[in-house]
Amino acid sequence: MDVDPSKLEPRLLTLEARLEDFDCGDVDLNEFLLRDALTYQDQYLAKTTLLYFGSKLVGYYTLSCDAIRLDVSEKNFFHRRKQIKSYPAIKIARIAFIKDCQNKGCGSLILEVVKGFVHKINKEGAGCRFITVDAYSERKEFYLKRGFKYNIHKDYKENAHPSLRFDVWTWLHKSTGSE
Ligand SMILES: CC(C)(COP(=O)(O)OP(=O)(O)OC[C@H]1O[C@@H](n2cnc3c(N)ncnc32)[C@H](O)[C@@H]1OP(=O)(O)O)[C@@H](O)C(=O)NCCC(=O)NCCS
Repeated sequence: MDVDPSKLEPRLLTLEARLEDFDCGDVDLNEFLLRDALTYQDQYLAKTTLLYFGSKLVGYYTLSCDAIRLDVSEKNFFHRRKQIKSYPAIKIARIAFIKDCQNKGCGSLILEVVKGFVHKINKEGAGCRFITVDAYSERKEFYLKRGFKYNIHKDYKENAHPSLRFDVWTWLHKSTGSE
């Protein structure tokens, strides 16, 4: 499929959406969409956006609120006067595209969309500094190449999936984009 990421059409998940044929190659991500996403949404736990190319459902992403701990060695950088126990974030709880649409720029575009969304949250009434993801190990390079860093606080040491974060404020305010 010759998908053009800029032509993806986002639609919030509703009961009416046809999800049966969605296949990203990962059983857990397929099943989450088919069986759990709507319940999570109804219970205010996570919100899912479906992505269509023309009439075809080609991907989805699911966001929820998050808060992360920073290691002592990182805290001075973020706030010099007061200690903040945890830092607000939006978590990419799930993201997946059908196999035909992988490696064509769609995932990268969605990361940009989420950065814009975090910026919007800040403009409209709530502080939110980071984007987080518990990445599949085999996918962590995708995020690291795009500016995500490891969460190094001890709380994340035992995580089955590497805990990563992207600092939206630094990205917006410092031309280097690095922490
Ligand atoms: C992981 C995933 C969401 C990434 O989305 P994606 O749309 O494939 O990501 P992109 O196409 O933006 O980037 C992936 C690679 O394709 C390359 N690419 C982007 N556009 C391209 C194009 N037009 N032609 C060829 N390659 C391209 C990118 O350079 C990138 O490689 P890099 O990471 O080495 O730089 C997607 O592959 C996926 O759904 N995988 C299955 C489910 C999954 O693993 N989900 C993530 C769980 S953490």
